[in-house]
Amino acid sequence: MEPMSANKGQSFYVTTPIFYVNDAPHIGHAYTEVAADVLARWHRQRGERSFLLTGTDEHGEKILRTAAANKVSPRQWADKLVEEAWLPLLETIDIQNQDFIRTTEPRHEKNVQKFLQHLYDTGFIYRGSYEGNYCVGCEEYKTDADLIDGEGAFAGQPVCAIHSKPVEKLQETNYFFKLSEYADKLLAFYEANPKFIQPDSARNEVMSFVRRGLEDLSISRSKEKFDWGIDIPWDDSHITYVWFDALLNYITAIGYGEDEEKFASLWPASVQVVGKDILRFHAVIWPAMLMAAGIEPPKQVFGHGWLLVGGEKMSKSKLTGIAPSQITDTFGSDAFRYYFMKAIAFGQDGSFSWEDLSARYQAELANGLGNLASRSIAMIHRYFDGVLPAASEFTDEDKKVQQIATDAVAAADQAISDVAIQDALTAIWTLVDELNNYITVQEPWVLAKDESKRDRLATVLNTTAEGLRVLAVLMNSITPKAAAKLWSALGAGLGSLDAQPIGDAGRWGQLPAGAALAELEPLFPRIETDATEAK
Ligand code: ME8
Ligand code: MG
Repeated sequence: MEPMSANKGQSFYVTTPIFYVNDAPHIGHAYTEVAADVLARWHRQRGERSFLLTGTDEHGEKILRTAAANKVSPRQWADKLVEEAWLPLLETIDIQNQDFIRTTEPRHEKNVQKFLQHLYDTGFIYRGSYEGNYCVGCEEYKTDADLIDGEGAFAGQPVCAIHSKPVEKLQETNYFFKLSEYADKLLAFYEANPKFIQPDSARNEVMSFVRRGLEDLSISRSKEKFDWGIDIPWDDSHITYVWFDALLNYITAIGYGEDEEKFASLWPASVQVVGKDILRFHAVIWPAMLMAAGIEPPKQVFGHGWLLVGGEKMSKSKLTGIAPSQITDTFGSDAFRYYFMKAIAFGQDGSFSWEDLSARYQAELANGLGNLASRSIAMIHRYFDGVLPAASEFTDEDKKVQQIATDAVAAADQAISDVAIQDALTAIWTLVDELNNYITVQEPWVLAKDESKRDRLATVLNTTAEGLRVLAVLMNSITPKAAAKLWSALGAGLGSLDAQPIGDAGRWGQLPAGAALAELEPLFPRIETDATEAK
């Protein structure tokens, strides 16, 4: 049978934003990482060459100020945060990235300069003067429309609508990128590529923004003000504007400027996952930069929603951040990954709550999937000495399980293609629910009491084991630790779990009858502490 989604040799290149190292990560950053990792793992399970890039954004005034406040150099500060906070995050939430880029690395700095020089030489960058507002928190030039009236200590002053703090007044001679020339080209590109910006609400927002026209973008800052950044190659009295530097990580990490073969094998990126706070940088400035350099824009920029706390965006600057380890220490990384992918439609905002997390852990993971796996495998141990029994004749009920499994595989795979991770989980859970229902109706413990029903018992337990095989393959991207445990109990005869292609997962009857199953380690242990109460 031809696996439906095999795309051998095809590359799937997915990126996260590179995060500012001014502070340690909270669950908002972890959320983005998990989503990108789920996509990357799933595509890998399809048999594609899948490449996940993440990293850190280390230049700019915000980092410089944080370092100064901590009485260390910006480089020391960045090193410390990367080592102590940002790399450990990847372990905490079980991210399988292929690379991690830091914007202070030579492979980045050198090729940012190459890119800049190229744009300068081809006339897309000119010298001009900038007069206006700058928010260091956002690292962004602000128009008057971006400002609101301050409150409290800042009453009577205009402040950044995001950070609620006064902006800087800048008057500098800067270099400008001719972004204004790209409004029509971008609109034509969005029209020709309706999936370039997703979800549609994000696409509409960006399109109406660009329709209002674009201004040229200042892409440098004078070193008279501060100098933590990449030198402008033709004028070392200026450094590169941090966003212009940062966006280029997506290509410098994969060989732009020095390994053209690697670059060509991965670019254009398949999906660039970002939070909606930075959608315009990625859906407007970034493709325009690439167009100017004669490089294809990515295939898709996906702007996901915000994790909210008390109705507001969780943020470092507002001190509403929850550390990912606060959740994983109690619930584990699998539950973290599952919860955020299942509870929030990817693309929409969602509120985190301990009650919801622990209710879903209990109902969906522990009772739903965990209990299904443990009782199914325990019955094979109890009634067949742990040897997988062969199925004999299939009834309509058995065939219904098989059909639901096939449909779940197809629906989940399609949902992942559409970056609808929640829908993929909903599809997978049709199989979890069906198997639980099947066991309840078939009552294998009753069949086991009647020697004449031995064949029927064998068929029922073979069916549930096959269903679990399908679930292990489908859940490997989402809850890799639980899927691996399930596989070590079940899949010994089939090789590694990672080698089971998604497209083939629905094909029934793969587990070899007669194979010895191992004991199953608990997938989602009962949580005994008061962690289930609000913290
Ligand atoms: O913007 N909910 O870095 P950053 C969901 N360095 N996601 C959230 C979130 C929340 N409450 N808070 C943060 C930068 N995020 C730049 C990016 S890319 C070339 C440069 C996630 O540290 C989300 O992905 O401020 C958001 O876009 C990102 O963190 C911002 O991280
Ligand atoms: Mg931010």
